[in-house]
Amino acid sequence: MKNDIHDLGLVLDSKVKLILIESWDEPRVLQTLTGLALKRGLGLHIWSATEGLQGLGFAGEPRGEGATEEPEAALRLVKADPQANLYVFCDLHPFLDDNPRLVRLLKEVAMRDALHAPTLVLVSHACKLPAEVQRFAARFSLALPAEDELLAIVREEASRWSERNRNARVRTDNRTLQQVVKNLRGLSHAEARMLARNVICDDGAITQEDLPELNKTKFQLLDLEGVLSFEYDTARFADVGGLSTLKRWLGERQGIFLEGKGVDLPKGMLLVGVQGGGKSLAAKAVAGLWGLPLLRLDFACLYNKFFGETERNLREALRLAEQMAPCVLWVDEIEKGLASGEHDGGVSQRVLGTLLTWMAERKAPVFMVATANAIQRLPPELVRKGRFDELFFVDLPDRAVRAEIFRIHLLRRELEPSGFDLPLLALASEGFSGAEIEQAVVSALYAAQAQQQAVDQALLLHSIQSTAPLSVVMAEDLNALRAWARGRTVSAN
Ligand SMILES: Nc1ncnc2c1ncn2[C@@H]1O[C@H](COP(=O)(O)OP(=O)(O)O)[C@@H](O)[C@H]1O
Ligand SMILES: [Mg+2]
Repeated sequence: MKNDIHDLGLVLDSKVKLILIESWDEPRVLQTLTGLALKRGLGLHIWSATEGLQGLGFAGEPRGEGATEEPEAALRLVKADPQANLYVFCDLHPFLDDNPRLVRLLKEVAMRDALHAPTLVLVSHACKLPAEVQRFAARFSLALPAEDELLAIVREEASRWSERNRNARVRTDNRTLQQVVKNLRGLSHAEARMLARNVICDDGAITQEDLPELNKTKFQLLDLEGVLSFEYDTARFADVGGLSTLKRWLGERQGIFLEGKGVDLPKGMLLVGVQGGGKSLAAKAVAGLWGLPLLRLDFACLYNKFFGETERNLREALRLAEQMAPCVLWVDEIEKGLASGEHDGGVSQRVLGTLLTWMAERKAPVFMVATANAIQRLPPELVRKGRFDELFFVDLPDRAVRAEIFRIHLLRRELEPSGFDLPLLALASEGFSGAEIEQAVVSALYAAQAQQQAVDQALLLHSIQSTAPLSVVMAEDLNALRAWARGRTVSAN
């Protein structure tokens, strides 16, 4: 708060007459502005559509007659004030649409540069200023609480809970407490407090089980929905057959990544390979393995939803992902977002640039997992050495792994694997991807239902034999993919 007051003071000194503060934490903004007014000996007036202009403390009532709930009347008073008072307008933004007179008034207030002129502060959760005044305005953001402040907030909420519960102590362990504090980063004071309270009040304990819910609420508060989505369901690596090199590689990096510091923080990996090989599944499993929130960045959404503002929104999404750090950022089928279209006015080229810059410069522990099915459309800049920590190639599963995948999918459907000859199924499904194996199990299940019998070896074999795997249908593509992968990638299998 002290720093905020100081920094806002600097903005005042710069003679800007219009300041925009976007925040959900209005009480804190008002507290900060009150602090500033006191420190500088300025009169402070606060306006809202319900209360009109109110003078605070020594500011006295604003001069002028009549109601000031109407924004125009209130702004006219501001314009007429010959002193360097501070005027704070809460939620003026809905009135600015289609109201040229208000916009003009704002501009007239903003353009005054006399020493004896008031400063107008607009406070809203979000506010897009009209182009006419945009360039006269300074944007100001309240500092977010640092980790020690967050820890203090959690402690305060814990002691409040104790007081209400006959001094029972809140149960937790140091590691979980640290994790909670880390996960509260990026939130305002009020939001962090609310979340801390949620975590504690249900059972008087701060445990590992609280983390997923905490992360989801945080994600909603940060309003990341849209381009970024929060994936509630991560996967377990126990559900992924094969990919043993990949699993080992991740296991080796887990400690360093969760530590969250240092120059050698793992940055991310790219999984290239055959369709249905388990790339998306593995991406989800990274978050499951490391116990981190999983965020998915959807390029298609980026392009469609915010036509013309693509790069700005990508930057915003990436910045918000950093606020969720430590986390896993998953970009599925990245080639679709970056395909170098010649007719898009260079947008995809600039999007790629934005992404590469971020990958090189980000400091926060955000582990990026990108997947790609088609290599022809992958921009070479992206696969150049050093962008990702590693490029993995996910090939078709070999025989042993196919048996393992059969086991996983039988078990998932409550079929006992020991009732099947797994090695034989694996042999019969030569050239199948993980997805095709799953599909074979599922269609055997349907066939069994139709015939009112249990799934057995014969049904499963039949289902395998009536599938033409993609690797046969598209043998040429697969060979090209393998040739490309050789020398460029490490096998994930
Ligand atoms: N290695 C594997 N182990 C277990 N299941 C797999 C494997 N590969 C694919 N599957 C099954 O196939 C589904 C689709 O695979 P997916 O991860 O989407 O493949 P990709 O992203 O490589 O195209 C998965 O959700 C999973 O059920
Ligand atoms: Mg996929």
